[in-house]
Amino acid sequence: MALANGTSTLELDRAGTGPRTLIDPFARAITYLRVSVTDRCDFRCVYCMSEHMTFLPKADLLSLEELDRLCSAFIARGVSKLRLTGGEPLVRRGIMTLVSSLSRHLATGALKELTLTTNGSQLEKYAAELKGHGVKRINVSLDTLDADKFRAITRWGDLDKVLAGIDAAQTAGLQVKINAVALKGVNEDEIAGLLEWANGRGMDLTVIEVMPLGDVGETRLDQYLPLSMVRARLAERFTLEDIDYATGGPARYVRVKETGGRLGFITPMTHNFCESCNRVRITCTGTLYMCLGQNDAADLRTPLRASESNDLIHAAIDEAITRKPKGHDFVIDRRHQRPALSRHMSVTGG
Ligand code: 5AD
Ligand code: SF4
Repeated sequence: MALANGTSTLELDRAGTGPRTLIDPFARAITYLRVSVTDRCDFRCVYCMSEHMTFLPKADLLSLEELDRLCSAFIARGVSKLRLTGGEPLVRRGIMTLVSSLSRHLATGALKELTLTTNGSQLEKYAAELKGHGVKRINVSLDTLDADKFRAITRWGDLDKVLAGIDAAQTAGLQVKINAVALKGVNEDEIAGLLEWANGRGMDLTVIEVMPLGDVGETRLDQYLPLSMVRARLAERFTLEDIDYATGGPARYVRVKETGGRLGFITPMTHNFCESCNRVRITCTGTLYMCLGQNDAADLRTPLRASESNDLIHAAIDEAITRKPKGHDFVIDRRHQRPALSRHMSVTGG
């Protein structure tokens, strides 16, 4: 796939106009871009989607070429880590074309890491190809090892398919991290088991606090389980040692003495994970979200389509980054029991 237009970026650099790297008003360098390539998914996880979702009309989506052009513009501005998300990124038609074309930035060294977050359902099909395109690590979302519970959480998912996908990924030589959302009364008793299973297979496990994004037709208060409680319970059984390990994401890691593996905590609700935020997100329609927990956004599709040169895109990105907020203010509204944000997770992919 040809890069639609790389020249204006070069011109920008040559002219020395505008800072190359993206620095927000709080002096945080933006080096991590998360790209939701589709809002669609073959699952309907209870904390992420309602059963009957209305998805975007296909005409609103950026083409794969446009996604590539937008990603490349960010890479030209110092983004060195790029994660493809969804919805489920691997259900986007032609997704390997995008992965393949983005991998050229790995070859030049501009991009240090190209990765994705997936529900695992399509990994059997794609694991080897991903590896072939230079993807080294992937995150697989998996909240339980109990097939019935898995079906209940994902509504449409098949655990065996996901497990086969994880096997395929490991066989292909991909490093796999398991992401589990901690759900009160649903998988809280299973987290120790998930940890032993994941670490036993050489995979890290990261637990995530459920965030109030989108109306999913269930009461958030029923789902919300603070990770401080998860950690306290795990500490009864395992020796957890804080470590400095960092992957460029928001997780804080501990070493689990008994398994020799790592366990991460992502605590958007009980801990301020914003201070070291180095990320922005773009959706499959080219909307840039400067913060997962705020509604403020910038339209990059219009400048993208308005001209063949990238100058308008760079100007729009610069302007948007000046509006990156210090942090989110997620609150599970106890009185109204409404989500803090009406946007679903499948729009920005976490
Ligand atoms: N809160 C926390 N995590 C969520 N995910 C999806 N919806 C939510 C939510 N409301 C997780 C998925 C996946 C990642 C992309 O985000 O389980 O691991
Ligand atoms: Fe799909 Fe992931 Fe949302 Fe589940 S959490 S419905 S797998 S996008």
